[in-house]
Amino acid sequence: MIFPGAIIDTPNFFVGSVPIFGELILAPMDGFTDSPFRILCRQLGSAMSYTEFVNVDEVAFSRNPESSANLKLRFSERERPIAFQIYGHLEDRLVETARRLQDRGPDIIDINLGCSIRKIAERGAGAGMLKDPAKIGRLFAKLSAQLKIPVSAKIRLGWDERRRNYLEVARALEENGCRLIAVHARTKDQAFAGPVDWDAIAEIKQRVRIPVLGNGNVRTVADIDVMKRQTGCDGVMIGRAAIGHPWIFSRKDKEQVPVEECVRMARRHLELMIELYGPRLGPVIFRKDAVRYVHHWIGVGEYRNRLVRCSSADEYDAVFSEISSEPRMRPENLRPNSSVDSTPIG
Ligand SMILES: Cc1cc2nc3c(=O)[nH]c(=O)nc-3n(C[C@H](O)[C@H](O)[C@H](O)COP(=O)(O)O)c2cc1C
Repeated sequence: MIFPGAIIDTPNFFVGSVPIFGELILAPMDGFTDSPFRILCRQLGSAMSYTEFVNVDEVAFSRNPESSANLKLRFSERERPIAFQIYGHLEDRLVETARRLQDRGPDIIDINLGCSIRKIAERGAGAGMLKDPAKIGRLFAKLSAQLKIPVSAKIRLGWDERRRNYLEVARALEENGCRLIAVHARTKDQAFAGPVDWDAIAEIKQRVRIPVLGNGNVRTVADIDVMKRQTGCDGVMIGRAAIGHPWIFSRKDKEQVPVEECVRMARRHLELMIELYGPRLGPVIFRKDAVRYVHHWIGVGEYRNRLVRCSSADEYDAVFSEISSEPRMRPENLRPNSSVDSTPIG
């Protein structure tokens, strides 16, 4: 399989037979990493794409091509290699859904073993499955036997501080045909706050031979390098720090991107949103993204309030034009910071 970059570069690693060119990867984030945002991140250097997580039951029962589950699974060729991420608590339902989803052309099927949302985890899906490594083993044995494409997993360190069973989970995954593990270095109980344990990523990396992606609290270019050095991971997965700042995948920090460039990117993002969701819904869904492109600019407060009320491309255009010509704009100086807790979004 040939992907952009393949002709001159050597792959950083492989997911099964799928070569990955690059070491920075956009994390799946429900409500943010739809196809428009993934295209932008991929163009700026994210080495592969993951869809937002999709509930297996929603896929099974959704015949409407415009349903939320089906929109989440829509992708452009420019995003490849692309992993469809699914979650559920029933092994056979997961396997059957994965088998059917292969026909839609993803390169990889990823199983979410990290979601901490209570109604999902307590039902035994997402991070809920971490409590049962034997079930994870059975699931991956079936997936790897029945799928033609590689299967991967995104995990956390365990259910809570007392049950940090990440090594057992990583072993069950590798022994049963999983081809890539992405590790969010927190437990389910920590959700999105509290210290991340990058040393646990290093431990996993030392124990398995399949590629490992490190994830959790990477906010700056300096953080990327610290995580790589500290863990030896094959790739660094970046979530919240990429929202409104896809340039992180080009190894640029926020203060290195001029306001005009932020506005240009926001306009491009809006165009892609309108292509996917249409002229009525696209601008409304884009509100949460629009504010993130400019939120670190001092003097942007009044514009932010206007951006969250925009309902059309023309309305955004008017606000963006004013922002571009606003003399007070200057970036806050963001300190590299891998040790401080992050604030969850959404
Ligand atoms: C709004 C939001 C939605 C998320 N949705 C998903 C998801 O659909 N699938 C998944 O595996 N992780 C999801 N995550 C977790 C992220 O992929 C990532 O593991 C987490 O944010 C830590 O990385 P970060 O510190 O770089 O943001 C989500 C996180 C956030 C903040």
